[in-house]
Amino acid sequence: MLTTIISEAERIRLLDAARKALARAYAPYSKIKVGAAMLTEKGQVFSGGNVENASYGLSLCAERAAIAQAVVAEGPGMQIKALAVVSDQPGPFAPCGACRQVIKEFGPEALVIFPGAEGLVEAPISELLPLAFRLR
Ligand code: THU
Repeated sequence: MLTTIISEAERIRLLDAARKALARAYAPYSKIKVGAAMLTEKGQVFSGGNVENASYGLSLCAERAAIAQAVVAEGPGMQIKALAVVSDQPGPFAPCGACRQVIKEFGPEALVIFPGAEGLVEAPISELLPLAFRLR
């Protein structure tokens, strides 16, 4: 398995884009704003924020909002190199299980960056979602 490594400039770019997206999130119910930004293998950056709904279960996570943008922009071959998540809450904020599965779909080697208990965590998706569901 290859370990994805990104440059410091790419890391800063992703975290900046995630924070910008967070500012536009729609989270009137949980009051937890989340931003995600991802770097594709082609070198483009896409971002998204969480979009909640009065019917709570319909709420969309920031990561999946960003991934949908990237797929429609680059097409179904889009591959995630790295994805950063931030929230407006203090403390750790790891991507949820559903988002891990969707990240894995488009980036089996993706590097995921998120706030941990002691600063930023950088971990490959294979570590965050071992033995992932797959159809083939
Ligand atoms: N949320 C995300 O955007 N990403 C995650 O990985 C976990 C949770 C959002 C969903 C909801 O709008 C809010 O955070 C609180 O759960």
